[in-house]
Amino acid sequence: MTESAQAFISPLTFQALSGHPVGTRLLDEDQEHVMGHISLARWADSVLVAPATANCIAKFSHGLSDDLVSTLVLAATCPVFIAPAMNQAMWNKAVTQENVARLNRDGFRFIGPASGEQACGEIGYGRMAEPDVICETLSRFFCHCDLSGKKVLISAGPTREPIDPVRFITNRSSGKMGYAIAEAAIEAGGIVTLVSGPVALPPPKYCQIINVESAAQMHEAVMASAPNSDVYIGAAAVADYSPNTHQPEKIKKIENTLILELFKTRDILAEVAALPVQRPFTVGFAAETHDLERYAKDKLAKKNVDMIAANWVGKDQGGFDRDQNALQVYWKGGGKQLEMTDKTQLARQLINLIAEKMNEKNTN
Ligand code: PMT
Repeated sequence: MTESAQAFISPLTFQALSGHPVGTRLLDEDQEHVMGHISLARWADSVLVAPATANCIAKFSHGLSDDLVSTLVLAATCPVFIAPAMNQAMWNKAVTQENVARLNRDGFRFIGPASGEQACGEIGYGRMAEPDVICETLSRFFCHCDLSGKKVLISAGPTREPIDPVRFITNRSSGKMGYAIAEAAIEAGGIVTLVSGPVALPPPKYCQIINVESAAQMHEAVMASAPNSDVYIGAAAVADYSPNTHQPEKIKKIENTLILELFKTRDILAEVAALPVQRPFTVGFAAETHDLERYAKDKLAKKNVDMIAANWVGKDQGGFDRDQNALQVYWKGGGKQLEMTDKTQLARQLINLIAEKMNEKNTN
């Protein structure tokens, strides 16, 4: 426990409730014959810092070690998990986000923060993830499942491209496919970040969710997390074109015709696949109304991704806003048909296939 933690709860309370000793001091005369912090760091299978304040995160990020917690984290060679807890403005500050990004790059794993009402009365990201979410995430890390401990970044749902303050261009994606993939990846032991367009689905429980609206916002959110991820799965139906300018006021109905100029959005999938270093295993989707195989293989090659999951859309079954779907999955030199079934089952099959192909790639 840090000094600040002890100001909230006494070490005696923790000791009594957990039945374990509580370390508070860097230099402990009872422990120094074994170098207390070093032996703790060697002993642990993982370290979890919860709640982690902005100050803690800043110290870890810069290698400071002026108390038992920061020294233990610096000395640890096992996986370190951090469950941030702070005011939303502190979490959103550029300097905190830079510290988080640096720790992510260095292999630290973040659980949360969650969004919602905070102790200070403000609303936003910064609440510590619920204790059961933290415990579940940790136990999944040790579960030896297919994606155990892997950082999985998933995009889901549609995007909305604003025309004016009251109108937008969007598509029929419900987010069901992407959310089912997120659930399946969590089940398989992945540490999941879900970047979601506007959908009417409850968020999966054990993952970090980043809500966005437009293709540009989705691009920003995905590109910020992609270099720290082991896998990227682009299930979102991202707008290919967006209005050139977002009119600040409602467009009035005056002329008989109205011409909107649309510009190509940035291709998130292609940019993730083109990351020069720390490129995740990259899985794209292809949604087609005709020539499914040809277009899917074309996307696999042109976007240089590891795998493409292709589905029919605009047909009688599967695809957009249905509970069922089928996928034709392609990778360089192979492919597999995943038959029509509900999206929960289908997502599990897809995750198994991704884990298998990732393993093959890593062992080659
Ligand atoms: O959400 P549901 O209702 O459950 O429906 C599921 C689904 C049909 C939306 C899903 O299965 C699916 O096919 N998602 C991808 C839809 C799509 O945009 O396909 P595309 O062929 O236009 O794009 C190919 C790939 O490029 C996709 O991985 C897409 O995320 C990506 N892309 C596209 C444009 C862009 N600007 N950036 C991208 O990353």
